[in-house]
Amino acid sequence: MTQFSETELTAAVIDSFNETPNPRAKFLLQELVKSLHDYVRKTDLTFEEWEFAIDFLTRTGQKCTPIRQEFILLSDVLGVSMLVDAVNHREREGATETTVLGPFYVGEHKVTPHGTDISATLQGERMFVQSRVTDLNGKPLPGVPVDVWHADDDGFYDSQKPTYATQGPSSRARFITDADGRFFFRSILPCSYPIPVDGPVGEMILATKRPAMRPAHVHFLVAAPGYEPLVTHVFIGGDPNIDCDVVFGVKDELIANIEKRSDPAMPDGKPASSPWHLMTYEFRMKPGAGNAPKPLAAKATEDA
Ligand code: BEZ
Ligand code: FE
Repeated sequence: MTQFSETELTAAVIDSFNETPNPRAKFLLQELVKSLHDYVRKTDLTFEEWEFAIDFLTRTGQKCTPIRQEFILLSDVLGVSMLVDAVNHREREGATETTVLGPFYVGEHKVTPHGTDISATLQGERMFVQSRVTDLNGKPLPGVPVDVWHADDDGFYDSQKPTYATQGPSSRARFITDADGRFFFRSILPCSYPIPVDGPVGEMILATKRPAMRPAHVHFLVAAPGYEPLVTHVFIGGDPNIDCDVVFGVKDELIANIEKRSDPAMPDGKPASSPWHLMTYEFRMKPGAGNAPKPLAAKATEDA
């Protein structure tokens, strides 16, 4: 047949993938065609609207660089990243909840001694973070690398600043859990922040009157051999944006009660210079396997 009705067209495009050797690729492509064609029919999409969409996607691609991924941001604000996360982590069995990796995992995490102030050069309210990594039964996991990164008290990541190339990382480090599965460090209390709004995704958020904010959080990537890699954040309880995260990444279990303290010493016995905040959070790892996500810059180098 050379001429198709609307529904025959969909069937013909689906059938055109019938010889795809990889069965999973065949399934994914055929389902994609079904969903896209349904969308066009349901919305009676006009030529102008389709052109607008193609221009938007083109500009999204053009905004990408080795350290900026506008398509991931698009996936995040459309809730697709969290949905992929949800369908891949249906059974947690008591393991710590997961959430999005986000675009600011750059991988330059230096192994850092416990207790270090990872934001020593930054202004901000001081925070002590104490944590432990265990299995599902509470058995401590020693020797586990834990990557940590968070925004400063203006809401920017080190990698977003022009000084990053010369001054190197701040509010970013790798710790290795001790014999009791513990790690601890000093930093500043991070701030809530807007996602980058200087690209097409930001334009969409602003044009649709959606709040662009993410509630304050600290990112953690815990990669223990024999366990599923854990990509998560710990959110600062009481943040005004906790109910309107632009990427839908908040889960109740990930909200920490940050205590305001005025003790003259921090939990490791070293002096505290001003009132400070205490974050206490434990990570429970699920047995399994998997590859920890790679930072964008590393992927760019591999692809080159
Ligand atoms: C972040 O938490 O760093 C982030 C996540 C998704 C989109 C933008 C930022
Ligand atoms: Fe973040």
